[in-house]
Amino acid sequence: MPKQAPTPQQDQFANKAQAWSARFSEPVSDLVKRYTASVGFDQRLARQDIQGSLAHAEMLAAVGVISNEDYAAIQKGMASILEEIDAGRFAWSIDLEDVHLNIEKRLVELIGDAGKRLHTGRSRNDQVATDIRLWVRGEIDHALELLGHMRHALAGLALEHAATILPGFTHLQVAQPVTFGHHLLAYAEMFGRDAERLADCRKRVNRLPLGAAALAGTTFPIDRERVATTLGFDGVCRNSLDAVSDRDFAIEFCAAAALIMMHISRLSEELVLWMSPRVGFIDLADRFCTGSSIMPQKKNPDVPELARGKTGRVYGHLMALLTLMKGQPLAYNKDNQEDKEGLFDAADTIRDTLTIFADLIGGIRVRPEAMRQAALQGYATATDLADYLVRKGVPFRDAHEAVARAVRACEDKRCDLSDLALEDLQSFHSAIGQDVYGFLTLEGSVAARAHTGGTAPERVRAEAERILAQTAAAQ
Ligand code: ARG
Repeated sequence: MPKQAPTPQQDQFANKAQAWSARFSEPVSDLVKRYTASVGFDQRLARQDIQGSLAHAEMLAAVGVISNEDYAAIQKGMASILEEIDAGRFAWSIDLEDVHLNIEKRLVELIGDAGKRLHTGRSRNDQVATDIRLWVRGEIDHALELLGHMRHALAGLALEHAATILPGFTHLQVAQPVTFGHHLLAYAEMFGRDAERLADCRKRVNRLPLGAAALAGTTFPIDRERVATTLGFDGVCRNSLDAVSDRDFAIEFCAAAALIMMHISRLSEELVLWMSPRVGFIDLADRFCTGSSIMPQKKNPDVPELARGKTGRVYGHLMALLTLMKGQPLAYNKDNQEDKEGLFDAADTIRDTLTIFADLIGGIRVRPEAMRQAALQGYATATDLADYLVRKGVPFRDAHEAVARAVRACEDKRCDLSDLALEDLQSFHSAIGQDVYGFLTLEGSVAARAHTGGTAPERVRAEAERILAQTAAAQ
């Protein structure tokens, strides 16, 4: 088949939809159009796209590349476009591939030549990188707020239960008694580190790619620092090739999101376990649970289960982004268009999950009696008895041995260490005296661990108050 010569087109948007169509002799098939288009999902970046365009246009006017009249027209046009988008009246078209070309085309429709000048000194490559950075920055700020709510809720419940005792586990075997408040504050620490990670990631997100243009920079006398300041960036990306190509900042964000979900998932696992009637430590508010269509007695902890499940998809997005990036030569490649859906979904997932969980934590009904009963089974104070013997001058290994024998005797008698008579205890070690009972109780055990990071109620109260004060501003 003879090739047709391309029709020269004066106006890039005149009669063919694609912005780059003058170069081509045949249109893409509908399937290829759908395959290559991103407007279905990147229209989420519309606000950031307009924000970036306005900053770029303001700079172009300031350095004299476009006139002030053009800039004023662009401002006006963009204001109408934003209105149309907000009102759901904007006609997104797959023919125009992505959010950038859709908005630019509409701008030209509204304001004519001034709209066609907007893309001077710019490429969709630095444009999209800027949009995503602005978007991720907003998500980070919101996630930081939500992590604050989450920690506030955990610390609030911890303060209430600073002295509530439950068994602490290792290997899911009863280990030593801990306070429920202490257990909750462990999660407040995890989410605190998650917040630190996001805040750190924000520093690298918050650099301006615009000015890199397609890959090599631009011949126009642009002022990148001015655009950076307008958009609230801390600085500019220092290499144009890097600016348009790397998505490491998005990967970092997804890594931080994956860690948040990992922590959420661990907490969820515990909530599910604690709510099992076999354990019965807590009850979740009905609004986070569902019933069974066949078993009338069921109240299922759906929200924590789903959160545990959704953790997998966020890990998946992290892996997808890492894989997306690994084989790409410099600079921009269309592969990068695949960065968005996973990134959006990771951000949506942590946003919804953290929002729901802050509320869910506040609605936990605690059953201290069930926790206490569980702590009384399993010889949780055995280490305290060993420590007691050490304080009486017995070497730790000998003390450990004596207590192990006492535990075996208790198993035979089906009783707790504190139920043994003094003579019985003394048969395991003569150094044991009447004062031992003060150490065998659950209260004595937790109160004795009053150092920084320990489980003693006074310590938990202090830590909870510290976190409450730290997170109060965000409430
Ligand atoms: N939709 C594209 C993306 O998301 C925008 C950049 C397109 N650049 C290009 N040279 N085709 O990555």
